[in-house]
Amino acid sequence: MDNSQDCVLSIKWENDNLVILDQTKLPEKVEYITLQTIEEVWDAIYKLKVRGAPAIGIVAAYGLYISVRNSKAADFESFYQELRKNSDYVASSRPTAVNLFWALKRMEKRALDSKNKTLEEIKMDLLNEAHAIRDEDEAMCKSIGENLLTLLKDGMTILTHCNAGGLATARYGTALSPIFLAKDKGWNIKVFADETRPLLQGARLTVWELMQYGVDVTLICDNMAAHVMSKGWIDAVITGCDRVAANGDAANKIGTYGLAVLAKAHNIPFYIAAPSSTIDIDTPDGGKIVIEERSEEEVSCGFGKRTAPIGVKVYNPAFDVTPNHLITAIVTEKGILRPPYKEAIEIILKK
Ligand code: MRU
Repeated sequence: MDNSQDCVLSIKWENDNLVILDQTKLPEKVEYITLQTIEEVWDAIYKLKVRGAPAIGIVAAYGLYISVRNSKAADFESFYQELRKNSDYVASSRPTAVNLFWALKRMEKRALDSKNKTLEEIKMDLLNEAHAIRDEDEAMCKSIGENLLTLLKDGMTILTHCNAGGLATARYGTALSPIFLAKDKGWNIKVFADETRPLLQGARLTVWELMQYGVDVTLICDNMAAHVMSKGWIDAVITGCDRVAANGDAANKIGTYGLAVLAKAHNIPFYIAAPSSTIDIDTPDGGKIVIEERSEEEVSCGFGKRTAPIGVKVYNPAFDVTPNHLITAIVTEKGILRPPYKEAIEIILKK
């Protein structure tokens, strides 16, 4: 992407330190923080200082390396036990995005594959694995953008939800990647961004990112999506994804399922953008995906402003599952999947 040098990176490896953009401070402040311990990494993921499925995986991978780089273990067995313990700990930070578990498993495997090397060499291999996870994510996001662009045309208007942009990945994003590419080509693509209650990732992050890149973006509240669709203003809905089950059901930010229903009712294509690291072949269908529930304050007292009576009962699921029959296509770096998804997923994962 022509302007990629201007992209704000959400994760950096700088002078042997893990540095992340604190996304809870956006859009008011662009503030980077250094994560020095595994506890800080856990906290950053849990509190959404870093968020978005691929970004969580990348930070967890670096975090695992950080957690053992000063290990005093005497042999591989005790080193590996320490690594496993830290891996289980980071894995407990958030349950839904499979990229977290995928990245941690990849790090553990790298340690096992290197078991005959010295511990210092194994530590270097772990750092290189974390770099690889980050670099591969960047390449995957670019390819997802190129694949999605083949489904779009100059002049279209896209509706998106939550933030599946560069902030949520190593770079470029998934759902937003084709929009950046289209901008580079000189296309006039417009975006409607759902604000995304309750934590406003759409308003705070997606709108901010798109405006930085000069994309024509309009912010709407989540409950306005049906209205703008009924006006005929939306040509396609594109969202990211936290986990695709083996049958193509897809978990993403709460509200995505509703958008897919609305898109169907208005005959608008509904695309899920996801790297293959988001496909979880071990989860047969969406009903088996663990949906994170977050604190009631996020709904009743968001950003410190009480908006409901103290003591009200609150239900705050962070994600929902869009059933496969509502998804027009799942766009990965390896190609565009169409129903029936079970077969399409099996084929693409062999590539
Ligand atoms: O709770 P969040 O902000 O981590 O939720 C993020 C999303 O739902 C994204 O759409 C998803 O992780 C895809 S990011 C490329």
